Amino acid sequence: MRFSEILTGAALVVLASSQTPTPYYDSTSGISYSSVTQANGVTFRVALPVAVTPADAILQVIAPVKYGWCGFAWGGHMINNPLSVSWPTGATTGQKSIVSSRMALGYTAVPSPYPNATYTPIKGPAANSTHWTLTTRCQGCTIWSSSDGDFNIQNETEAVFAYACSSTPPVTPSSNTSDIQVHEEFGIWGHDLSAAKNASFSSWVKAAGNASVASRFWA
Ligand code: HEM
Repeated sequence: MRFSEILTGAALVVLASSQTPTPYYDSTSGISYSSVTQANGVTFRVALPVAVTPADAILQVIAPVKYGWCGFAWGGHMINNPLSVSWPTGATTGQKSIVSSRMALGYTAVPSPYPNATYTPIKGPAANSTHWTLTTRCQGCTIWSSSDGDFNIQNETEAVFAYACSSTPPVTPSSNTSDIQVHEEFGIWGHDLSAAKNASFSSWVKAAGNASVASRFWA
């Protein structure tokens, strides 16, 4: 693993030239992920079905509390691909994190709401004093069309993913349509999808349909 850190103005940009995802079994939910922890300590985990189109995905984000928001880019860059942006809501009970569906059309504006992706809570680890967590199903994150073309990462054995994180919390943390400030960090990595694909995926999604599980573990 090799990292280069470039100081550009006020922004620290962390470029991951290679990141090796490893299999991870989440004992709180029974879900197996392909997991990557970035140099900044933020973990991104992805689970997919084996051969379904369009494929839903399960995304888990575990971020140190110093981050006000972190985004996951399904196409490996900021613009023209689904962005799953998440942050802690600040609530002490109930919903402790939130996911916001966005797509950026340029680098100078806050990414717009992206209505073609739908998110549903999934059971996962709870937030604690050091980390906030998000575990969610996404329908519409693995397949999309933009001015860059048509994409379906489920067909691929490896995907390029990217993330960005900011230490500044969203303007209204309790709302997933909140305005956000630009990130200080981003990273891009190649992600082997074979470890993410699992024949049990549909049973994990069925469990998520249980509202009591969903509300209890939306953390
Ligand atoms: C107010 C919101 C945002 C602004 C103004 C913004 C602006 C920018 C700018 C100017 C760059 C160019 C590179 C550099 O920093 O020097 C960049 C890169 C990047 N941004 Fe954002 N960004 C925003 C939100 C997001 C979000 C929510 C994500 C979600 C993952 C994201 C992901 C990335 C990534 C992965 C890159 C580097 C790769 C690329 O060039 O596409 N950004 N952003």
